[in-house]
Amino acid sequence: MTAPTRTSAGLIAAEEPVLAQNYHPLPVVVARAEGAWVEDVEGRRYLDMLAGYSALNFGHRHPVLIEAAHRQLDRLTLTSRAFHHDRLAEFAARLAALTGQDMVLPMNTGAEAVESGIKVARKWAYEVKGVPADRATIVVAADNFHGRTTTIVGFSTDETARSGFGPFTPGFRIVPYNDLAALRAAVDGTTAAVLIEPVQGEAGVVIPDDGYLAGVRELTRRAGCLFMADEIQSGLGRTGRTLAVEHESVVPDLVLLGKALGGGIVPVSAVVGRREVLGVLRPGEHGSTFGGNPLACAVGTAVIGLLETGEFQRRAAELGAVLRAGLAELTGKGVVGFRARGLWAGVDIDPALGTGREVGERLLREGILVKDTHGFTIRLAPPLTITAEELHNALGTLEKVLASTV
Ligand SMILES: Cc1ncc(COP(=O)(O)O)c(C=O)c1O
Repeated sequence: MTAPTRTSAGLIAAEEPVLAQNYHPLPVVVARAEGAWVEDVEGRRYLDMLAGYSALNFGHRHPVLIEAAHRQLDRLTLTSRAFHHDRLAEFAARLAALTGQDMVLPMNTGAEAVESGIKVARKWAYEVKGVPADRATIVVAADNFHGRTTTIVGFSTDETARSGFGPFTPGFRIVPYNDLAALRAAVDGTTAAVLIEPVQGEAGVVIPDDGYLAGVRELTRRAGCLFMADEIQSGLGRTGRTLAVEHESVVPDLVLLGKALGGGIVPVSAVVGRREVLGVLRPGEHGSTFGGNPLACAVGTAVIGLLETGEFQRRAAELGAVLRAGLAELTGKGVVGFRARGLWAGVDIDPALGTGREVGERLLREGILVKDTHGFTIRLAPPLTITAEELHNALGTLEKVLASTV
């Protein structure tokens, strides 16, 4: 077998015969990155306006995080939870304090945190709420995105995500997002939890009406079920607050975290929650070989340290205002609508100008990386370390791309 040529085209062609084709990436082969910038194998630089779907909130290779990882790599990387290790207690305590919760269940990927939250909610329903065995239900929102396991795609409303993967786990009810009346009608004595994203990221950065999150909190409290917030994409600074639920001063019973918790270095996720809820788990009932490993805890603790300063939340809020103003300027000039919260926006492109994918390809040629979603929408979620100037330049490039005919 001949080695692939070290060009983008050569490496992409070499991938195809051997790599499962479950993604349709933009045609760029990234070789290195720093801060908000990535470089491809041919040395071209691109401004990263996606930031790994918020996994890179602190940019690529943030020096504090890289140093924490290096220090830990030189000492201890994995024990499994069969033994204690000296990084777990601090990680858990500081994550609980950062999120205003009592307990932490460390896992690895986002989907694993969601699965873990579902298990905890069901166990709580049987042991604390008194739901009859195997009757617990969880109410979720239409157009949700919570990950890719069979249970999770089973309550997705996206046919591409579901089709061909059944049979699915029962026990989920789907209601429209941002509709308290529908939620009220779906909740009953069997309901263990309401699971929603405070902002629906994959759906196109869909922000519920003011009062919705507070309404979900009130409704779940009255109904005696849990409010489980999936903050895997919205959390850890992205919206200008540590958690997106803080925009409505809401404290859920369970919060699911992932992505940015791993600092763009290792997969780190967690379920954080109230003691009465996470306390239902006892030894042997749930686990993960890698969950809460020393390297993950070292990086996760360094991430928490960055968030404890409040600097990144502040930057997201301030630069978010720049982003909103820039997108307002573009409205009517190729942008037909947008939704933004903090440094995060879903931008609907005039279909006459091309699909979101095509706009993404044109932006790529101009040195900007974005990702499309649902046809004519592009998502902007740059690292929170981006400068105002870089953001202005990116918006200027978007304006230029939208103004040019295909
Ligand atoms: C809100 C939300 N939940 C869960 C997930 C799944 O995370 P992971 O891809 O790490 O399994 C994602 C990923 O995009 C997400 O956006």
